Amino acid sequence: MEPRGISGLDDYGDPTELVAAGYDRVGERYTALAMQGNETKARHTNLILGRLPDGSDVLDLGCGSGQPTTAILARRFNVIGVELSSVQIERAREAVPNARFVQADMSRLELSLCSFDAVVAFYSIIHVPRARQQALFESIYSWLRPGGILVASLASTGSEIDIEENYLGAPMYWSSFDAETSRQMLRDAGLELERAELVTQTFDGVEERHLWVVARRPS
Ligand SMILES: C[S@@+](CC[C@H](N)C(=O)[O-])C[C@H]1O[C@@H](n2cnc3c(N)ncnc32)[C@H](O)[C@@H]1O
Repeated sequence: MEPRGISGLDDYGDPTELVAAGYDRVGERYTALAMQGNETKARHTNLILGRLPDGSDVLDLGCGSGQPTTAILARRFNVIGVELSSVQIERAREAVPNARFVQADMSRLELSLCSFDAVVAFYSIIHVPRARQQALFESIYSWLRPGGILVASLASTGSEIDIEENYLGAPMYWSSFDAETSRQMLRDAGLELERAELVTQTFDGVEERHLWVVARRPS
C-alpha cells in the first residue's frame, strides 16, 4: 500500500485506540464498500473453503463487521472473529450469529495452542504497529495446528507510521514492512510460504497494492 500521508503519532495518541475509534466511525461505510466485492479477497476465501473440511476451526483476525468474509466462512466452519472496534463487532455479532466474537487487540491476544486449522487476516495486520508484527506471526504459528494455514493480506511497501487524517471520514493509522521483509518475517516465525502475490486493486477510488500470502505451519 502506498503511504497515505505521514503525520506525527504524538498528535493522535495510542495507535490501537486510533484504529478502534476510526472503525467505530467509518465501519458502516467500510462495510458498504467491502460488500461491493473484491475478487482477490473472494479468491482467498474460496481457497480456504476448498481446502478445509466442514467443521474446521477458523480464526478471523480483524473481522470488522463480519461481512462478507466471516459470514461466508461461518456457513461451513467454526469461526472466531477478533475485532478491536466495539461498533464493528456488534455489527458482526448481529450479522453472523453462528460465529463467536472476541473484542480484542490481536497483537495482545492469548489463545490455546494448536487450536485452528486456518487463520484469516484480511487488511488487518496492516493496522498493527510494526514492533508487534513479528510476535504476532509467532502467535499465529502457535495457534495453528500442524498443517494449518494463514491466509492474509499484508502491505507491499514499508512505513512505520502512516496516518491519514480523513480515511473514509475519520483519522486512521497503518504500520507496515515492505513485501520482502514480511515474507522473511513469516519464515522466521516458522511458517512455510506457499504463495505470495502482489495485487493492485482500487478501493474507494484509491489504487492500493497488497501482498497476499498463504503460509502453512509445517505438519
Ligand atoms: C480494513 S478492515 C478489514 C475488515 C475485514 N477483515 C475485511 O476484509 O473486510 C480492518 C479491520 O481490522 C480491525 N483491526 C485493526 N487492528 C486490529 C487489532 N490490533 N486487533 C483486532 N482488530 C484489528 C479494524 O478495527 C478493522 O475492523
